[in-house]
Amino acid sequence: MNIVRYPHPALRHQSQPLTNINDRVRRQAAAMLDLMYAAKGIGLAANQVALPYQLLVLNTSGDSGQPELERVCINPVVLERKGTIEGEEGCLSFPGLFQKVRRARTVKVRYYDLAGRQMELVTSELEARAFQHEIDHLHGVLYIDKMGFLARRASRGALEEFEHEYKKAQEKGEIPADAELVKALADLEAEAVAPAPRM
Ligand code: CO
Repeated sequence: MNIVRYPHPALRHQSQPLTNINDRVRRQAAAMLDLMYAAKGIGLAANQVALPYQLLVLNTSGDSGQPELERVCINPVVLERKGTIEGEEGCLSFPGLFQKVRRARTVKVRYYDLAGRQMELVTSELEARAFQHEIDHLHGVLYIDKMGFLARRASRGALEEFEHEYKKAQEKGEIPADAELVKALADLEAEAVAPAPRM
């Protein structure tokens, strides 16, 4: 498992809700937390590791030494938004690109945890930003889509550079062709909804 970079097609994939929480999901969530900490992030969505599931991990401290702040969120939804606030945002799929993005100041979210419990909470400002950013990922929406005109214009050069690097990596065979990546997402999705064997 690794974190994919823009413009990998998984970042534009509309992920499906998970229908069951099993060992595979628990292992994937643990691996995502490890990657997130290693990359010094505070959130990571399954789309960013090319998994087409509504699954995200968060820890607003970004510190694996504070596991009490860790959240693994399955099928998360925003129920309510309050206020708006502009703040600097980055994304592990766009390393080095930080821009101001306007978001709701706080949100009320609902999700399932790894034990299958339904959780509901009203977030702090930082966690609200992280939830909005990560939930967007699950729907194929990126922070570059949410930037204002100036931030978007200031990002143009960096985006062209990411696109160039990605194309180069594909030409060198380090990243499969997009058609292959899209097929891999569809295969994972089909596998996730396949009925369990009856015995
Ligand atoms: Co991101």
